Amino acid sequence: MATRTALVVGARGVIGGNLIEHLDRSGDWKIIGLSRRGGVTTGSVRHIAVDLLNKEDTVSKLAELTEVTHVFYAAYQDRPSWTELVAPNLAMLTNVVDAIEPVATNLEHISLMQGYKVYGAHLGPFATPAREDDPPHMPPEFNVDQQQFLEHRQADASWTWSALRPSVVAGIGLGNPMNLAMVIAVYASMSKELGIPLRFPGKPGAYTSLIEMTDSALLAEATVWAATSPAGRNQAFNITNGDMFRWSSMWPKIAAFFDLEVAPPLSMNLSDVMADKAELWDAMVTKHGLLKTSYAEVSSWQFGDFVFAWDYDVIADTSKSRRAGFHTYVDSEAMFLQIFQSLRDQQLVP
Ligand SMILES: NC(=O)c1ccc[n+]([C@@H]2O[C@H](COP(=O)([O-])OP(=O)(O)OC[C@H]3O[C@@H](n4cnc5c(N)ncnc54)[C@H](OP(=O)(O)O)[C@@H]3O)[C@@H](O)[C@H]2O)c1
Repeated sequence: MATRTALVVGARGVIGGNLIEHLDRSGDWKIIGLSRRGGVTTGSVRHIAVDLLNKEDTVSKLAELTEVTHVFYAAYQDRPSWTELVAPNLAMLTNVVDAIEPVATNLEHISLMQGYKVYGAHLGPFATPAREDDPPHMPPEFNVDQQQFLEHRQADASWTWSALRPSVVAGIGLGNPMNLAMVIAVYASMSKELGIPLRFPGKPGAYTSLIEMTDSALLAEATVWAATSPAGRNQAFNITNGDMFRWSSMWPKIAAFFDLEVAPPLSMNLSDVMADKAELWDAMVTKHGLLKTSYAEVSSWQFGDFVFAWDYDVIADTSKSRRAGFHTYVDSEAMFLQIFQSLRDQQLVP
C-alpha cells in the first residue's frame, strides 16, 4: 500500500510525465499531478488543472492536499530571454510552496528540477566537466534563484530539498518546447519524406564537441532516489546517462535508424527552415496513418537550434551522485534508438 504521496508539479512535461510513470510503476506512491491542462485521473494518479502563476488559484486548488509528503517540482514557463524567465518561474515555485507548506503537515521533501544553466552552459563555453560546487556566474538565472528560494525556506522547516541537474533530457512528450528526441525524429522523418540525406543542422563546432544526454526514465529514478535517500538531503546532483558522445559519431547511427544517407553538416536555423513545413507534416500524417498531431505539437525547432549551437563541450561531472549511491547507467545510442522506435510504435512518426 502507498505510504507516500507525491505532488508532481509540471505533470504534463517531458520530465514530469515520465516521473509520474516511474512513481506509478513502483506502486509505492499516491500521485497528484499539477498542470494547466490537467489530465485523466486513473488508479493512483490524480490530475489537477491549475494555473500556478495565479496565487489564488494555486492556494485554493492545493488547500485539500494535506497528505502530500513529497513535492517534485518540474514546471516550466518558457520566455524569450534569460531575464524574462526569472519572474514567472520563481513565482510558480513560490506559489506552490506557499500553498502546500501550511496544509501538508507531513511534508518531508521538495525536489527541484534544474539544468546546466546553473553552470552558464547556455551562455557560452563553461568550465567542464561542471561540478555541483562550481562558483556561480552573473545572473539572471532562474534555476539559481529557485534553489536560493528553497534553501532560504528550508532553513526553518522540517522538510529537506534536493536539486537535480540533468543534461539535455530525452523522452517522449508532445507539445513541449524542450524535446530533443522529437526534434531529431521529426527532422529525420521529414528529410526522408523529401528524399534528401540527413545533414547535421548545427554549428560546425557542435558536430565535434562533446555532449551527453539524460534519459527521462533514468532522471525519474534519480529524482526519487535523491528525494528519499538521506544522502540526497539539501544537495544538488548532476544526473546524466553516464556516457558522452559527439554528434559526428551519433548522427550516422540516427541516419541508419531512419534509413537515410548522411551528408556533410550544413549549418541552418531550424526555426526558419522548418517554419513552412506544416503542410508537409499534415500530408505525412495522412499518408503514413500517423496519430493526428499538429505540426506545432511535434516541433521544438527553437530548442533544436539552441542545443545544436553548442560548439563547445557540454558535460558535467556525475561522480557526486555516484559517491552518494546512485549508479544507474544508460547507453545514449541505445536510448535514442529506443525512443525513435517508441515514437514509431505509437505512430507519432513514420
Ligand atoms: N527538457 C529538457 O531537455 C531539460 C533539460 C534540462 C533541464 N530541464 C529543466 O527541467 C524543468 C522542466 O522542463 P520540461 O522540459 O519538463 O518542461 P515542459 O515539458 O515544458 O513542462 C513544463 C510543465 O509545466 C507545466 N506548466 C507550465 N506553466 C504552468 C502554469 N502556469 N501552471 C501550471 N503548470 C504549468 C506544463 O503543463 P501545462 O502546459 O499543461 O501547464 C508542463 O506540465 C525546467 O526547469 C527545465 O529548464 C529541461
